[in-house]
Amino acid sequence: MLGSLLLAGSRSALVRRAVSGFPVTRKVVNRFVAGETTADAVAATRRLAAAGLAVTIDHLGEETRDAASAGETAKAYVALLEALQPYDLGHRAEVSVKLSAVGQALGADGDRIALENARVICEAAQAAGGTVTLDMEDHTTVDSTLGILRDLRADFPATGVAIQAYLFRSEGDCRDLAGEGSRVRLVKGAYAEPASVAHQKKADVDKAYVRALRILMEGRGYPMIATHDDRLIEIAETLAERCGRAQGTYEYQMLYGIRTDKQEALAGAGHTMRVYVPYGDDWYGYFMRRLAERPANIAFFLRSFTSK
Ligand code: FDA
Repeated sequence: MLGSLLLAGSRSALVRRAVSGFPVTRKVVNRFVAGETTADAVAATRRLAAAGLAVTIDHLGEETRDAASAGETAKAYVALLEALQPYDLGHRAEVSVKLSAVGQALGADGDRIALENARVICEAAQAAGGTVTLDMEDHTTVDSTLGILRDLRADFPATGVAIQAYLFRSEGDCRDLAGEGSRVRLVKGAYAEPASVAHQKKADVDKAYVRALRILMEGRGYPMIATHDDRLIEIAETLAERCGRAQGTYEYQMLYGIRTDKQEALAGAGHTMRVYVPYGDDWYGYFMRRLAERPANIAFFLRSFTSK
């Protein structure tokens, strides 16, 4: 219930103004966001890489309403990828892109603008020796995102995509995307979706995650298992063994600031462990989704009002 309210608030301009206006909010945001500038993102990436972790960096922002801002977002990614080049991090550092931040939400021309901007980012990522993964937003954007992914993969075959286990359609999408060279980041799903398109109960989402994971692990692509859920990680290991998959033919992913002990443990056990590192000043939607995921985060947020 509280989670649903927070997800509704994540799309309200009024709540955005109220939450962003609290002086202590920034302190809590810093737990989940690596900073505001390109330099902050590069510093966090180098810190994590030095600890044996791989990284995927997200320039925060979503639902851009004008073409100029969409272009600016693409430029920010290019600047970031150029700033990373001297450190020769290769596949240790890739980027994650929300297509709505680069134009997808701009009406009839949205897909074309988003594709053009995403291409610019893919070119810069390729020059830096890395790749791009497309985030998945609410269910109304899935067909468009998968269409843009197909176009991008024609020129940049390593481009990946997030698939949300909670959507009824996702097992079919995983089957379509389980081929050679295909990089799929399997997530549970973080948006408020109607019962007509998505599982509503956590237990059903978890079961759907396992079914989708099995399809990806049995396939010939590169599964990116993006979860903090111990049970699902155990199941992934069992499936890897059954499917004869060695370490390096799949990877784990978690969000910046969440379960860092587990991140280090998986990397220490020889797995590729990639941390999703968000940076930038448009943190509101991302932050509210993190609060909605876990009631304890709300308590942490509220406690910060009473602590110095
Ligand atoms: P679950 O929510 O069941 O959490 C399992 C355990 O992890 C919890 O018990 C807790 O210990 C810990 N945990 C989880 N969330 C936490 C939080 N916010 N704070 C503290 N602890 C927490 N979604 C989407 O719709 N589109 C996308 O493109 C992406 N992209 C993406 C990339 C990566 C790398 C990750 C890890 C996740 C996403 N997500 C996403 C978010 C995803 O859909 C989901 O909301 C979160 O990962 C939480 O789900 P878990 O699988 O961790 O399970």
